[in-house]
Amino acid sequence: MAGIKRRLMIPLSTTLLIFVALVRESVAAVDGQGFIYTGFGGTDITVAGLAAVEPNGLLQLTNGMVQLKGQAFHPSRLRFHDPNSVNGTAVRSFSASFVFAIRSIAPGVSAHGLTFFVSPTNNLTSAFSNQFLGLFSKRNNGNASNHIFAVEFDTVQSNDLLDMNDNHVGIDVNGLVSIKASSAGYYDDANGTFYNLTLASFEAMHAWVDYDGINKEIAVTLAPLGLARPRRPLLKITYDLSPVLMDQSYVGFSSSTGILESRHYVLGWSFGMDRPAPAIDVTKLPKLPRLGPEPQSKLLVTVLPIATGILVLAIVSLAIVLRRRQLRYAELREDWEVEFGPQRFSFKDLFKATEGFKEKHLLGIGGFGRVYKGCSGSPRRRSR
Ligand SMILES: *[C@@H]1O[C@H](CO)[C@@H](O)[C@H](O)[C@H]1NC(C)=O
Ligand SMILES: *[C@@H]1O[C@H](CO)[C@@H](O)[C@H](O)[C@H]1NC(C)=O
Ligand SMILES: *[C@@H]1O[C@H](CO)[C@@H](O)[C@H](O)[C@H]1NC(C)=O
Ligand SMILES: *[C@@H]1O[C@H](CO)[C@@H](O)[C@H](O)[C@H]1NC(C)=O
Ligand SMILES: *[C@@H]1O[C@H](CO)[C@@H](O)[C@H](O)[C@H]1NC(C)=O
Repeated sequence: MAGIKRRLMIPLSTTLLIFVALVRESVAAVDGQGFIYTGFGGTDITVAGLAAVEPNGLLQLTNGMVQLKGQAFHPSRLRFHDPNSVNGTAVRSFSASFVFAIRSIAPGVSAHGLTFFVSPTNNLTSAFSNQFLGLFSKRNNGNASNHIFAVEFDTVQSNDLLDMNDNHVGIDVNGLVSIKASSAGYYDDANGTFYNLTLASFEAMHAWVDYDGINKEIAVTLAPLGLARPRRPLLKITYDLSPVLMDQSYVGFSSSTGILESRHYVLGWSFGMDRPAPAIDVTKLPKLPRLGPEPQSKLLVTVLPIATGILVLAIVSLAIVLRRRQLRYAELREDWEVEFGPQRFSFKDLFKATEGFKEKHLLGIGGFGRVYKGCSGSPRRRSR
């Protein structure tokens, strides 16, 4: 008996475990080593400043208000130091994958961008809401005591920050003067051709940030949403993050609006410590809001032209019928008639009285032509 019970118990508990894992996966699977957000609805993501989670699960970092900033953090800090390393402070390999979109007043128009960052603090209230992207201020920019690593997706060329152009991706350590930067784009897998991407195009883009703790290598890869991750990264640099990152650090996103109306969105995000970031199911991500005015309902869009067509057709047909009737009963008035005035019968009346000049009303054929008998009133009334 005990044997049967045990055999029954095992599949049941396995099923329960799988079930729990599935439930957690759909919200934000967190196991201390990584997480995944397929949209942010119902998650406990921490937001600050303008940042908010939209009803459809979209994480909106900024909402179009100018000179403001927004940030979002994974709620708990992660452990970046490997306790088993020689000195106990070597930064572990980590990997992030996220989908974002930047909307400016018009595609490609320079507005401030956003960053993905690792920071010992989640209090960024002193950060500026201009070219410092809601992450740093003029006072602390470049200071080694920040212990911040970031990747900027910058859509403004700021000369103070030595930016290369107004559409670039940069690797930042403790400040926004990048240690390496590249114009936004990706390398085609087949032949290595470089394709430009416009960050502030309001097109969703997929980015990957990887740190290899063994070889001390940082790599950043960008692609249009839906394209498989390009093999060749956009940016790659050998850099030891061990002296930069504190053991316990937050990971998150920041952005600022500056003087132009702009909006910054994150659609999904995954993170892996000592392992690749879990793959994001891009088909399940929340949709970006529509550009421009709300469209008419689908019903209206399809029904309205058809209804208009039918109405026009009806009016034209009616006009043709009326015209035909008019021609059928057309009167020929001759000059002599004017003298006799009201004594005439209209052709229409004659037509009716003789039921369309039917043979049965024909009395005879004489010098004036055919002579018909006519009855006033409609033939139908007469037949009653
Ligand atoms: C600790 O060791 C790692 C390599 O294992 C190195 O990258 C890091 O810089 C070292 N930290 C210090 C403070 O020496
Ligand atoms: C955040 O930092 C500011 C100074 O930059 C400080 O005034 C404020 O009290 C801090 N807020 C929290 C919740 O620690
Ligand atoms: C860097 O920040 C620390 C702590 O806020 C401060 O004491 C120091 O003066 C700053 N260094 C510079 C060069 O501003
Ligand atoms: C590279 O391959 C793409 C298709 O993957 C093609 O459209 C493009 O023309 C190629 N470029 C060159 C320089 O061969
Ligand atoms: C790509 O962007 C760079 C930098 O803005 C520019 O110099 C280059 O002409 C662009 N290439 C294409 C094909 O648009």
